Formats: sequence, C-alpha cells, structure tokens
Amino acid sequence: MTQDELKQAVARAALEYVVEGAIIGVGTGSTANYFIDELGAMRGRIAGAVASSEATAARLRSHGIPVLDLNEVSTMPVYIDGADEIVESGAMIKGGGGALTREKIVASVADQFVCIADGSKLVKTLGKFPLPVEVIPMAGAVVARRLGALGGQVKLRMKDGQPLVTDNGNHILDVSGLSITDPAAMENDINNIVGVVTVGLFARRGADVALLGMEDGVK
Ligand code: A5P
Repeated sequence: MTQDELKQAVARAALEYVVEGAIIGVGTGSTANYFIDELGAMRGRIAGAVASSEATAARLRSHGIPVLDLNEVSTMPVYIDGADEIVESGAMIKGGGGALTREKIVASVADQFVCIADGSKLVKTLGKFPLPVEVIPMAGAVVARRLGALGGQVKLRMKDGQPLVTDNGNHILDVSGLSITDPAAMENDINNIVGVVTVGLFARRGADVALLGMEDGVK
C-alpha cells in the first residue's frame, strides 16, 4: 500500500469515533483531508464541525458540513487529526502543516483526541521531525536564540521566498536536531519563552487513541 492508501485507511477507520448528533473537531493536513472526505457521507448526521485551519474549514464546507465558531461551542466529544510524529504514550509533534495553534486550541476542548496517521509516524523518541514553534513575528530572532540554546538548529519557515505567515498572522520556527525524551517538560519550557505562541509538542494533551495505518491493517 502507498502512504496515501494507508492515510485513507485510517481516515475511514476514524469514522467509528464520530459521535452522531454532536459537534466534531477536525484537524489539518493530508490525513485530515482524507478524513473530511469520508466525513462528507455523514453530513446531516453531525451537528457541525470546528475547524483547525482555514484550509480545513473550506474543505468541510465543500462537503456541505457546517463549520462552527469555537466561541459558540462548549463541548465536543472528539477531535480527529494527524501527526508528524507520535510515541507510544500518545505525545506528538504536530504543525508540519503550520496549523499547530488552532489544532491545540480545538483539541483542548475535546473530550477525546483521536490521532490518525500512517505507521511511519510512530517513533521511539520524538525529534527527528523538526519541531514547529509558532512565534509573534517581532520575537522571531530572540525566540530563535533561546531555542538554539536547547541544542537544536533553528530555521524560519519560508514560503515563496518570504517567511510563511500562519492563519493567525504569525511566523514558524522549525527546530531540528532535538532528542525529546521528556515531551511534557519540553512543552512547558518552550511555552515559557516570551514571544512563543504555541509549540508543536502535544504532550500535556496528547492522543487518547492512535489509529495507525500499517501494511497489515489499521492498528
Ligand atoms: C498540521 O499543522 C499538522 O499538525 C498535521 O496534522 C501533521 O503535519 C500531519 O500531516 P499529514 O497528515 O499531512 O501527514
């Protein structure tokens, strides 16, 4: 199976976690896109969705699924999203698609985080995938120095020759070369750097369920 077929398989398996009549939180990225395409068949049987990015909102709407403002939602049984890396404890690196801040906000409201990913995302230790950190643009250089002191190499994420601008108007620093043995502690440490909006470590609120697409089926 190709990586895309594995992503499609987990996206389909995640439908089992959708609660009929309720609001669902939906993540961002290629696996989340496959999930949205599957969810289209359930429109009318869910109360609507909260999107973790403008791209996800547009895709949900294209399937006729109502997109709700998080400010009008107080409970959500499930949030479904992909990951860039995940370890057995459920801690993840996310933000490869740049949507980490809204992903973390929507996930924080949900009772359950269901991670959907192809099996290659399961690792022993987080950090091979560069850790995304969303920053207030004026703080980019100072935050980059502080992150460099943690031992990683820091790069400003670019798009078309310009710093990438997130849905929130911020920039992203990608930190490579970290070996993250204590994800929750590192999440706290990076959150405490002034100028950081969100770190793409999801450890304090990790995945409750991980559906991983393997050659021999969804585990
Ligand atoms: C988006 O910002 C990310 O957190 C994605 O969830 C993550 O990058 C996984 O993306 P894919 O499903 O495209 O691999």
